[in-house]
Amino acid sequence: MQITYLGHAGFCVETKSSIIIMDPWLSEHGAFDSAWFQYPNNHHMAAYVQSVVETSKKDKYIYISHEHKDHFDINFLNTLKNRDFTVILANFFHPIVKEALTNYNCKNIVLLNNQEEFILKDASIILFTIDAELECDSAILVKSAGQSFLNLNDCKLHEELKSIVIKHGKIDVFTAQFSGAIWHPTCYTYSEEEYEKISKNKQKIKFELTARAIEVVKPTLYIPSAGPPCFLDPMLMHINFEKINIFPRATQLIEYLNYRCKHLNTVWPEVMPGDVFDVDVSKFIQLSSSRVNDNDFFSYVTSYANHYKKFFETRENNNYKINAHKVFLELRSDLEKKISNLKLVNKNITTPLYWRITEVKEEIYKIDFKEKELTIVHNIADYNNYYMIESPAWQVKKVLHKEINWPDFALTFRVKLTRVPDKYNTLIHGFLTLDAESIGRFCEMMQKCYDRNERMVIEYDGKRYSVLRYCRHQGGDLSQGWIENGCLVCPRHRWQYDLRNKGKCIYNDESIDAICLDQDISDKNETN
Ligand code: FES
Repeated sequence: MQITYLGHAGFCVETKSSIIIMDPWLSEHGAFDSAWFQYPNNHHMAAYVQSVVETSKKDKYIYISHEHKDHFDINFLNTLKNRDFTVILANFFHPIVKEALTNYNCKNIVLLNNQEEFILKDASIILFTIDAELECDSAILVKSAGQSFLNLNDCKLHEELKSIVIKHGKIDVFTAQFSGAIWHPTCYTYSEEEYEKISKNKQKIKFELTARAIEVVKPTLYIPSAGPPCFLDPMLMHINFEKINIFPRATQLIEYLNYRCKHLNTVWPEVMPGDVFDVDVSKFIQLSSSRVNDNDFFSYVTSYANHYKKFFETRENNNYKINAHKVFLELRSDLEKKISNLKLVNKNITTPLYWRITEVKEEIYKIDFKEKELTIVHNIADYNNYYMIESPAWQVKKVLHKEINWPDFALTFRVKLTRVPDKYNTLIHGFLTLDAESIGRFCEMMQKCYDRNERMVIEYDGKRYSVLRYCRHQGGDLSQGWIENGCLVCPRHRWQYDLRNKGKCIYNDESIDAICLDQDISDKNETN
């Protein structure tokens, strides 16, 4: 088995009779309305993939893990002329990728359920999926001739890794995302100090998650992949150069692993688009001549951005011709659709959401979740209790005119968010980032999550605690988590539940209801 890295989350796996191309994100205009660009630049790999698809006589497959545009690059897929290949997708409740490929005219589209195996001439493919509205993603395992490659990409299935390894045996090559990819804290209003503190905690805990995954999988090779992107739009350029944020590069992870995982035999080199690893001989048989030196990051990204100067200037000129108030008025019906699909789960939300179009100064939408009501107001009523989102009219217009969807919008990072108090709320997050059609099912899934009351016993600091087993965020299995600084960490999105504070989450008001089963030593002393 040979594995060619295509950049970001893209791979081309070649066996004797088959070629499986995974998540080829190769378009020159990046993703999420050109907010994200591939780092390092991998546009040259487009010609490589086109030539493989065009000329190889082997059976060809293209796997798209999920609909996020840094994985599902329809512009690139449309450049492929010879469509003599099968597309492999996870069978998600919302078949977004399948529908987008309706008239694609490839050989076949295969939909696989969670853990379903698909047999190729000389290999097999198994997909592992999460299908939960806020998160729809899949991971892929390819096995051939006693060798295997597990590509987790962004899929937060770390809690399943143990059972995957038990069931499928040794994994030779493993890859998984190690950097962040969400709008918190990137788009939120924080002081520099708070921003760095949050980013540092998120970065550290994601590195630890990656280290733990490598410890479980014990591959020969771990490839740091699926991020971080870089940002070439002048509006977003500053993110690249922040002292600390949630987008660490591979070199930082490698430094962490070198120290944290030195007891393991796995290697974790920095891999560049075009590098080829041969699993038979367990080494790289080709290294791309175009390599990025992390010390040159500033000049690399600055010169990368210079190529797009004209592109963004033209866009900006056009963007600001838009009638912002018209967009504000058009936004109403989309928000109303979202509200009508909303089912309040578990708790009433007393925090109102304000939705502002940057250029519209006098009017703001106010959403009262409890009353399911949308009104236009002129001010924020209570500065101690509110959530606010703000974005330029041109970016919102692209959603309303179906050029991008709300999940894409959230990843453009061209928004500003403020929340007081600074507490994550899953329902508000879902409302902001999901399309109206997804909100009903999302609420049902949240309700199911709140209804799960199975408990487990864990030990911390010499005492036993009874806690809820499933995470209050999206149901992650906490029995596969770990304890750090007195907090039980969920292996999915790393919420931290403080055992010293009755199991309360440090990010919000959720709790796993931790009950200490052993009398505290200080209590005993007092009793005596
Ligand atoms: S499921 Fe998301 S943090 Fe637990």
